[in-house]
Amino acid sequence: MTDVRIGIIGGGLMGRELAAICGRWLHLVDHPVRPSVVAVADLNPAALEWFRQVPTIETLTDSWQEVIDDDSLDVLYIAVPHDAHEEIYTAAAAAGRDFLAEKPFGIDLGAAERIADSIQQAGVFVRVSSEMPFFPGALRAYEHARSGALGELLEVRSAFLHSSDIDRDKPINWKRRADTCGDIGVMGDLGMHVAHVPLRLGYSPSSIYALLDDIVTERPAAAGSGEMVRCDTWDNALITMRGHAGDRAFPMLWETKRIAPGNMNTWMFEAIGMDGGVRFSSRTPAYFERFRREGSEQIWEQVQPGNISAWPMVSGAIFEFGFADALLQMWASYLAERAGALGDRFATATVSEALGAHRVFDAAARSHSSHRAID
Ligand SMILES: NC(=O)c1ccc[n+]([C@@H]2O[C@H](COP(=O)([O-])OP(=O)(O)OC[C@H]3O[C@@H](n4cnc5c(N)ncnc54)[C@H](O)[C@@H]3O)[C@@H](O)[C@H]2O)c1
Repeated sequence: MTDVRIGIIGGGLMGRELAAICGRWLHLVDHPVRPSVVAVADLNPAALEWFRQVPTIETLTDSWQEVIDDDSLDVLYIAVPHDAHEEIYTAAAAAGRDFLAEKPFGIDLGAAERIADSIQQAGVFVRVSSEMPFFPGALRAYEHARSGALGELLEVRSAFLHSSDIDRDKPINWKRRADTCGDIGVMGDLGMHVAHVPLRLGYSPSSIYALLDDIVTERPAAAGSGEMVRCDTWDNALITMRGHAGDRAFPMLWETKRIAPGNMNTWMFEAIGMDGGVRFSSRTPAYFERFRREGSEQIWEQVQPGNISAWPMVSGAIFEFGFADALLQMWASYLAERAGALGDRFATATVSEALGAHRVFDAAARSHSSHRAID
């Protein structure tokens, strides 16, 4: 086991998740590396304060440059608001740092392209965060689609639906402002999750037509505040396109919604073909569904794969898998791939997949404003 020292830039919601993951690394069986979070940079003193309880912490700083310059670190995790991605990701690449980038990988397509260039020039190992496909049922659905068992594809749907914004009294934050979240709004927030599996399956998109919806247009400036401020990001995005696999072009739908009543945090993937189909939703994480024909019968069956993850865990196969496990598996994948030990296991999203996703979001924004499909 090799020790990997990690520096976090952006110790908010996701930075804390990584510290918690490293604290339970023993959950994994025979992983080649042992990571620990040793440094954190954040502008907010309260965010830094939380990390004092992490036993491996050596450095807490308000300077992201200090973390980038720290030669004792092996890997960075950069989890800051989208308007800070380009500056910090390109600086990390220029300094020769390997890192896990948070989505959407730049505030817009131009930023994503410049970040990708800096990574290519520096030759550093970078992957992009997308943990939901690591649910065992999602992995099995992906494998089934990849196997060719679906035959000619008829339709693919990929969605991330939550209701984080259904409460009109929820105060504004950086994710709800275009200048900090990006003009692509919810697509920047949830889109990478929706793009990862279709792009990994090689379903290349064309002819993008999108309907974007800004439903809640103002929010309280702070909790309990009477002052209302503009909330100018897209809440929901419905992106239709043609997916291409081999000679076949088929309808593909990517949905990202912050207001999807009845959905707390639902990630789903569905692909239907002439010979078979497959469907997984994180609402029903214990099983995935598989379609097949037997004679004249058409059968949708529920398959319970058990708690069999990409990287083996000490938890028994009959136990249940959750969000924190998906994040643990994503980090296990990133660090194993970096160590050259991933084998044929499912890999974290690549820079080119993040760029592919951004191209779709950019086309979707242009489609919405021009009311036409964009190729
Ligand atoms: N993979 C996922 O499931 C998932 C979930 C949520 C968010 N995210 C992504 O993670 C990133 C961060 O989101 P979050 O929810 O953790 O946000 P957050 O607001 O909870 O945390 C961001 C932190 O970055 C700090 N920060 C801002 N500018 C900084 C700077 N210049 N230098 C150092 N620190 C700075 C803030 O003070 C804050 O503590 C975003 O890219 C977001 O899209 C991913």
